[in-house]
Amino acid sequence: MTSLKMGIIGVGGIAQGRHLPAFKQLENVEVTAVQDVNRTRAEEAAEKFDVPHVFDDYKDLFEKVDAVTICTPNKFHAEISIAALDAGVHVLCEKPMAMTVEECEAMMEAGERNNRVLSIAYHFRHTAEGRLAKQAMQEVGDPLVTRVQAMRRRKVPGWGVFTNKELQGGGSLIDFGCHLLDLALWLLDGPKPVEVIGKTYDRLSKTPGQVNDWGEFDHETFNVDDHVTSYIMFEDGSSMQFECSWAANIKEDHTTLTVSGVDGGLSVYPFEVYQAKYGALFDQTAKVDGGEDEGLVQAKNFVDSCLGQGELVVKPEEALKVSRLIAAIYESSETGTSVRL
Ligand SMILES: NC(=O)c1ccc[n+]([C@@H]2O[C@H](COP(=O)([O-])OP(=O)(O)OC[C@H]3O[C@@H](n4cnc5c(N)ncnc54)[C@H](O)[C@@H]3O)[C@@H](O)[C@H]2O)c1
Repeated sequence: MTSLKMGIIGVGGIAQGRHLPAFKQLENVEVTAVQDVNRTRAEEAAEKFDVPHVFDDYKDLFEKVDAVTICTPNKFHAEISIAALDAGVHVLCEKPMAMTVEECEAMMEAGERNNRVLSIAYHFRHTAEGRLAKQAMQEVGDPLVTRVQAMRRRKVPGWGVFTNKELQGGGSLIDFGCHLLDLALWLLDGPKPVEVIGKTYDRLSKTPGQVNDWGEFDHETFNVDDHVTSYIMFEDGSSMQFECSWAANIKEDHTTLTVSGVDGGLSVYPFEVYQAKYGALFDQTAKVDGGEDEGLVQAKNFVDSCLGQGELVVKPEEALKVSRLIAAIYESSETGTSVRL
């Protein structure tokens, strides 16, 4: 097989903003079908992106495609992924992999039993800085302390179902923090977490009359976290300080990932390397502007993997590890104790 027929399931913000434009640019991909529970939205997307088939039931779509991208709310990730894999269709599922660890495991099993590609759209790995950092980790030596901050000032997503625990499984951690957790674990080569302590907050977003930059949401029905902190210890003796927020009272948004190791340190955003060399403190940086869009890099890697022409970057077993950590952070906050893994 040298080309791929793609379908998109759930054609809201991320499907139209990232996946459809990316797949439409690839010469070896034909986007043949879309499906959404909102038929009007599916028809509009089909017209906008010149897609020939619109379906009401995702199971019917499987007959027209070799692969799908799943862009529904998190609650449906596992059900639709497993159905697709069982129908012999490769799957790129939006992040997080699913709502629970059990669902993630069932997805992985479905991928293995059907010998189909299953990947998760952890696109921070495909950013220019992320790719460079992965290679530059050799400058760091053994990692000691990793610091992660995925911080937004007053930006609770006011569209979709992001503030609904039933449909999303959580808030800022499972939606935004998951990206940086994934990127950090990937850079660190997937160390085994042994103990996790976490604390979630929702007080700001539960308070009426919030100033919010990303539209309006209902503070009464808001039932997810808007700020989360965690401390994670790994089997190799290294540790991670983690914080994420949709709605912090901070000066400005920032995404920080630094690793301090035995031979040097590294920051991903902006990309910098810190060492001591030639008797001096020695810093290095790189020109990373203007690289290929991460959505396009992600789409290419998925397609190449489906066609047997490249190695998958985001493997399902790695995304499962992210979901295990997320579950442990939530459990620790609920129980008020640390969780041993
Ligand atoms: N990678 C990223 O940075 C990123 C960014 C935004 C969203 N996402 C993820 O993408 C997914 C969708 O987010 P969004 O922002 O596009 O949301 P959205 O609300 O804009 O779109 C979701 C779409 O799914 C449709 N839908 C709902 N239930 C469905 C079902 N059972 N079957 C088919 N369609 C269904 C809705 O009608 C809607 O059109 C979520 O999992 C979210 O976590 C990822």
